[in-house]
Amino acid sequence: MCGIVGAVAQRDVAEILLEGLRRLEYRGYDSAGLAVVDNSDELHRVRRIGKVAELTDAVSQSPVHGGTGIAHTRWATHGEPSERNAHPHVSGDRFVVVHNGIIENHETLRALLQNEGFEFTSGTDTEVIVHLVNHEQQKGGTLLEAVQRTVTQLEGAYGMVVMDRTDSDRLIVARSGSPLVIGLGLGENFIASDQLALFPVTRRFMYLEEGDVAEVTRTDVTILDSNGHPVEREARDSEIEHDAGDKGQYRHYMLKEIHEQPEALTNTLEGRLGEHQVNLSVLGKEGQELLNRTRAVQIVACGTSYNSAMVARYWFEELAGIPCRVEIASEFRYRKFFVPEDCLFITLSQSGETADTLAALKLAKELGYMATLAICNVPGSSMVRESDMALMTHAGAEIGVASTKAFTTQLANLLLLVTAVGRHTGMTAEQEASVVSALKALPQILKSTLSMSDDIEKMAEAFADKHHSLFLGRGSQYPIAMEGALKLKEISYIHAEAYAAGELKHGPLALIDNDMPVIVVAPNNDLLEKLKSNMEEVRARGGQLFVFADRNASLKNGEGVQVLPVEASPEIIAPIVYTVPLQLLSYYVAVIKGTDVDQPRNLAKSVTVE
Ligand code: M6R
Repeated sequence: MCGIVGAVAQRDVAEILLEGLRRLEYRGYDSAGLAVVDNSDELHRVRRIGKVAELTDAVSQSPVHGGTGIAHTRWATHGEPSERNAHPHVSGDRFVVVHNGIIENHETLRALLQNEGFEFTSGTDTEVIVHLVNHEQQKGGTLLEAVQRTVTQLEGAYGMVVMDRTDSDRLIVARSGSPLVIGLGLGENFIASDQLALFPVTRRFMYLEEGDVAEVTRTDVTILDSNGHPVEREARDSEIEHDAGDKGQYRHYMLKEIHEQPEALTNTLEGRLGEHQVNLSVLGKEGQELLNRTRAVQIVACGTSYNSAMVARYWFEELAGIPCRVEIASEFRYRKFFVPEDCLFITLSQSGETADTLAALKLAKELGYMATLAICNVPGSSMVRESDMALMTHAGAEIGVASTKAFTTQLANLLLLVTAVGRHTGMTAEQEASVVSALKALPQILKSTLSMSDDIEKMAEAFADKHHSLFLGRGSQYPIAMEGALKLKEISYIHAEAYAAGELKHGPLALIDNDMPVIVVAPNNDLLEKLKSNMEEVRARGGQLFVFADRNASLKNGEGVQVLPVEASPEIIAPIVYTVPLQLLSYYVAVIKGTDVDQPRNLAKSVTVE
C-alpha cells in the first residue's frame, strides 16, 4: 500500500508533502519520510518510525527548505517498520526513490547490484529500484531513459517517484499495478498515490495508465506509454465534491462515519428511486440494456466489500431469481472459472484501488463475462475507469480504516441493482414498489437506530476483558454477523468469528462458556423461531448472549441474555439496519480497550498490494 507525494515547485514544498502524507496516512502508517532538494542542490532527508506526526515533529525541529521533494508513508511488506526501512531510499547520495507496491524479483536484483558494488542499507525491496536507476544512469542518457530501462527489469507492482539531487527541475514517475496521479498547478506540479493528498494545492489531475512513465517539471508533463511512445492523458477536474474535512464533534473518524450513514444513504439513493420504481438511468441506455440481458451474476470483492456481496447473493437469488456467485478476489484470480451466459461481473470496492479486486476484474475481461460493473465510492479510481459501467456510492470520503458507510451504501446500491435486473427476470411490480418504499424509509430508520448508541456503549463494557467472541445470524443476516465479527477483530483485536446460527451444533458449540460473548442479530422474520432455538443451545451451555432484536420480537432480558431492541424495519433492508448496532458495538469496545480506532495496527485503508 503506502502513500506517495511529490512536488516540483518554486516554493518550499515540505509542508505540502507533510499535509499530503497526513491525508494519505490511511494507506499505511508504520513509518514516514521525506526528501527535499534545496537551492544549492543539497539533499535533505528525514525519516521516522511511527506515524506522520513523528515526521512532522522532526521537520518542525529542523526545518527543510527546497522546491522539489518526495515523501512517503509506509505499510511494511518487505523489511520491518524501522527508520532504515522507511522511504525515501537513496543511492550514491544522488538518486532518491519512493515506491508503492512489491518488487517480486528483488532478491535476484539485489544480488546483481551487490555484485556491481552497490551497498544496501535497508531490508526493503524498494532499495533495488534506486540502485538500479543509479546503475542505469551511469550508462548515460536522461533520467527519464534510466527509469524506463529500470522498469523493464522490475517484476511485480510499482507506483514510484524518482528524484535526482543534481537536477531538481524534474521528477520521474512510473506506474504499474499501483495508482499514481499527477496534480496540475500553475508553475508547479504534484504527484500522489491518491488525489485526496493534493486537494490543498490542486483539483485538476491526470491519471497515469498501467505502464506509463512520465517526466514532471514545474510547467510540463511528458508521458510515455508502456511501449515508450509519447501519449496524452486527459487532464480532468476532480469529481470528488467534499474534502475529507476533520472529525468535527466526533472523537474518531469511524464514529463520525457511522453517524453519517443516514446522509450517505440519502445521497446514494438520490435520483435513483421513482415513485414505485428503481431508476438506474445513471448507467446510461447501454448500461440499462445490459441489465435487461443479465441472467447470472458473479461478484468479486475483499473484506467488508465481500461481506456486502454475500448479502447481495441472498437478494439476487430470492428477488431476481437468478444465480449469483460470490468470490473473494484473491481466490477468484487464481482458479479456473466457468462463465455462465449473460453473466454480469460485479466488483465491489470502497477505494476502487484494491489490488486483488483489480486483478480479478482484469481476468474477468479476459474470461469474457457479458459486462463488468463496479460499485465503488471513489470517482476516477482504477476500478471505475477499468469497468464497463460504474454505480457510485455517494458515501463521501471514508477515512477510518474500518469501513462503515461504504458498506451500507454498497448494500443500498446492490438492492437497486437487484431490482433493476429482477424486473426482467420475474420480480413483480408490487415487489419492486415495496423495495422502493423500504429504501425510501431507510435513512430515517438508520437515524433511529443510531440512537441506540448510549445503550451499546454500556453493553460494550462487558467485552473489555474478553479475548474471543462469536457472532450469529441466519439468512441474509449471516453476512451481517460476518461483518460484525470483522469490525470487532479489526479495531478491538478481540478474536471474533461469525457463524450461520444453524451451524453452531456442528462444531463451534464446543467453544461456548461463560467467557465467550455471543452476539446475535435477530430481526423479526421467518427464521426468528429457529434462531431462538440456537440461542437456547448457547444458554444451556452457560454462554453469554448479546442480542440485537427487532423491538416487536418477543425477546426479553434474562440471566445471561441481554437484549437491545432495534427499530422495526421492512425485512428486505434489515441487513443494512442491523449493521449499525454492530458497528457501534465494535467502536465502543475498541474505545474501552484503548486501541487506535481509525488506524488499527497492521492494517491500511487501501490495499494496493497483492
Ligand atoms: O476498498 P475495498 O472495499 O476494495 O477494500 C477491501 C477491504 O480491504 C476492506 O473492506 C477492509 O476489509 C476494511 N478495512 C474492513 O473494514
